[in-house]
Amino acid sequence: MNIQWYPGHMTKAKRAMEESIKLIDLIIELVDARAPLSSRNPDIDSLGRGKARIVLLNKADMADERYNDAWAAYFKGQGCHVVKVNARSGAGLKQISAVVQEACKEKIERDRKRGILNRPVRAMVAGIPNVGKSTFINSFAGKACAKTGNKPGVTKGNQWIRLNKSLELLDTPGILWPKFEDKTAGMKLAFIGSINDNILNTEELAAQLILFLAQDYPGRLEERYGISFEDLDIKDISGGYVILEKIAKARGCLLKGSAYDTAKAAVLLLDDFRSCRLGRITLEFPPDKKED
Ligand code: G4P
Repeated sequence: MNIQWYPGHMTKAKRAMEESIKLIDLIIELVDARAPLSSRNPDIDSLGRGKARIVLLNKADMADERYNDAWAAYFKGQGCHVVKVNARSGAGLKQISAVVQEACKEKIERDRKRGILNRPVRAMVAGIPNVGKSTFINSFAGKACAKTGNKPGVTKGNQWIRLNKSLELLDTPGILWPKFEDKTAGMKLAFIGSINDNILNTEELAAQLILFLAQDYPGRLEERYGISFEDLDIKDISGGYVILEKIAKARGCLLKGSAYDTAKAAVLLLDDFRSCRLGRITLEFPPDKKED
């Protein structure tokens, strides 16, 4: 998680993905349900050309349920197979095997025509850092975690986990690089803790999060910190700082003298958000699906 992503890292990650992709039939792509587009790397489309794909809306337990369904519908509309999951608790994982069969039915049919029966589908898990790849592999593979051992043609280090007779999983996930070019996407990734906080300073990051919450979830801030938006017009980042100071006041974050410790309040807010103490929140919405 503390990787500093720079072009060298991205090139390395891309090369590793290209190598792994040669070995598999199916990519299980994890995205964060709170920001499904920002947490997705568009290069997966070219990297995964010709491979079957499943999108997992992971951390669905942390995202607004109304939008989980809207996002699932959106990805289905784009021709993807989608499952909402909570890799930590295991919710949703049972559906995956059936979806794998569906996503790979062309390959299975091709094999059958060639007289190859019961060759397992080989899959790789991929996603940006912190999206839940390792947690997913551990939960999904569970006790089936017995590895099948190295096989000819498999790069040393890559092991296959046999999940059942029709599915094998590469034990090493494919790491995709986060989207930095798009500033808003980068900010959302910082909110959810998927890239280093120091993309912005913590107070600015918190003020930006407040701007977002004031627009889409104002009640959550009112409820948790007892602040009222009634006489406030939060239009830009300066409004975010005003609220941050109110949070500092509400939480007794004080510096020596009478100044408020907004740096401490920023850490507190980001922590409350990331631990779902502000409730389940989705940071971006499928086109035309945003509810008022
Ligand atoms: P990665 O391999 O893609 O980098 O991600 P990893 O599995 O390490 O998961 C990153 C963090 O996200 C972990 O929390 C993990 O428990 C959490 N996580 C993964 N999937 C889910 C999910 O569906 N729901 C929720 N709520 N959390 C999830 P951590 O705090 O870094 O570690 P830990 O304290 O859980 O060990």
